[in-house]
Amino acid sequence: MGKGKLGICVVGLGIGYAHARNYSKMEDVDLYICDADRAKVERAKAELEVKGTFGTIDEVLESPKIDAVDISLPHDMHKDVAVKAAEAGKHIMVEKPIARNLAEADEMIEAAERAGVKLMVAEWQRFAPSIVKAREFIGEGLLGEVFLVCVYQLGFVRITGWRLSKERTGGGNLIDSGIHAVNALRSLGGADVEIVFSQTTRLVLKEMEGEDTSVTVVRFRNGVVGNLITSWGISTPGPHAYFTVYGTDGSLWEQLGDDGGLYIRSSRLPEADEEPVKVDLPKVSGFEAECRHFVECILEDKEPITGPREARADLELVVAAYRSAETGMPVRLPL
Ligand SMILES: NC(=O)c1ccc[n+]([C@@H]2O[C@H](COP(=O)([O-])OP(=O)(O)OC[C@H]3O[C@@H](n4cnc5c(N)ncnc54)[C@H](O)[C@@H]3O)[C@@H](O)[C@H]2O)c1
Repeated sequence: MGKGKLGICVVGLGIGYAHARNYSKMEDVDLYICDADRAKVERAKAELEVKGTFGTIDEVLESPKIDAVDISLPHDMHKDVAVKAAEAGKHIMVEKPIARNLAEADEMIEAAERAGVKLMVAEWQRFAPSIVKAREFIGEGLLGEVFLVCVYQLGFVRITGWRLSKERTGGGNLIDSGIHAVNALRSLGGADVEIVFSQTTRLVLKEMEGEDTSVTVVRFRNGVVGNLITSWGISTPGPHAYFTVYGTDGSLWEQLGDDGGLYIRSSRLPEADEEPVKVDLPKVSGFEAECRHFVECILEDKEPITGPREARADLELVVAAYRSAETGMPVRLPL
């Protein structure tokens, strides 16, 4: 850097607008923005502290003012823009999924390693207070030995634009918002997946090419088993937990809806032995924390918690699930 503030350009102002808002509050960052849609650029300029704008991605990558890019573009653009950014010596934050397939992910990882730049994937789940705390409790042994993890990501989303295309997204619901739930399952279950069996369907959002709903069973190498259900087709979700982790001495879950939050029952905690206890969580947004982490990784030369190998492992599970759904057979990892 060597010139005061870190110059970060957010490219793509859909969800990227939220990233831009986070960077704009940071005193050690100069925020730049770029979007092909002029109206989005004007709106962001009017609402946020923006240092400058760019008309095209090439202009962003050529600019000496830019130290890092935040790629919040459709999935089919991640690889090309990330590889070019690495070659231009820019640090990279890329939205999830890292890419549409493992070959693209590997190209990105190699390009970043060759150039010696940071490559982080915007997986805010790993920074969400409920997941951070759940991992802490599991690590402290409060559940005894964990043996089962269930994650249910259920809701209704009307899909439009590039997301309708399997070619542009790499799949459907599971590779898109579903990959957040994949990350939650992996980070709560032990990360290293051995077997994946999955079925997918599309009976609600018939305009999509990919699936709107997926059901996946996972076996981790540590013996833990997991179950993941994701859907964009559920307009009437009943009360349910987002994730539940079961251990030999207790369980914990993130309840959604009224009185939502993280709950724990554990024979190792006298106050939570008979009745579940609601856990106090810091009022931190996972989104804000991930953007701050990216900046700190660059300024302090640290490796990102959600580095590209973690993101590749999430994608590998998704690719295995699609392969399993197509063949009707379980799939063994590594692919
Ligand atoms: N972390 C999350 O919770 C979350 C939520 C939504 C989306 N996402 C991810 O973010 C990424 C973007 O999704 P989105 O929903 O914001 O999409 P979007 O379509 O809403 O936004 C993409 C933006 O990119 C711009 N764009 C496209 N081509 C461009 C180009 N050549 N130059 C400059 N700008 C260009 C478009 O004008 C658009 O504003 C995807 O990877 C998606 O999976 C993550």
